[in-house]
Amino acid sequence: MTESNTKHILAISGSLRRKSSNASVLQAASQLGAERFHFTFYNGLDTLPHFNPELDGDGDEAPEPVRGWRAQLRAADGVIICTPEYANGVPGSLKNALDWIVSSGEFLDKPTAVISASPNPLGGDKAHASLLLTLKMLTASIAEGATLKIPMVSKKLNAEGEVTDEATLGALKQVLHVLERQMQPSS
Ligand code: FNR
Repeated sequence: MTESNTKHILAISGSLRRKSSNASVLQAASQLGAERFHFTFYNGLDTLPHFNPELDGDGDEAPEPVRGWRAQLRAADGVIICTPEYANGVPGSLKNALDWIVSSGEFLDKPTAVISASPNPLGGDKAHASLLLTLKMLTASIAEGATLKIPMVSKKLNAEGEVTDEATLGALKQVLHVLERQMQPSS
């Protein structure tokens, strides 16, 4: 956790593409929240080995990329995941990363926002639902209002890949607001 009042958010894109629209959405969120949050972008999805509990040992013996992934989660006050849908489900690399957390528990009560973005009109609804099931199993804390589906995402970006659609930017602000409230210490 960060020591100052600035909350630290770990942003995770479920896409490995260089020009990913999901990464663009996370970039927009980081710009909208720049004054209140410190964003770190996790970029190790494709460095994690395929999940195998036999590689995990007692946790200290887990492969180095897995230890790094877990450490980044532990250091975050909150998490935002933005993912595409592949073949009606969560991209395998993202699911693989989450499988590594089942036994180590870094998502326990972690304030988490879940966003899916797709060029199709359903906004990746099946990946979204499946991701929620997985994160709830990991006991992530997902508040009402901390979820968002972004349909037709390609129409909401400009030629530089920046989110320019006002409604989408407004919805992202609202998600950040809910996440921020959740990260406040309860009095
Ligand atoms: C897709 N895409 C897709 N979209 C969707 O809404 N439902 C789906 O089941 C799939 N399946 C799928 C399979 C494969 C093999 C590809 C290549 C693509 C489209 C996908 O949402 C689109 O490529 C997004 O733009 C990917 O997100 P990024 O990389 O732009 O963040």
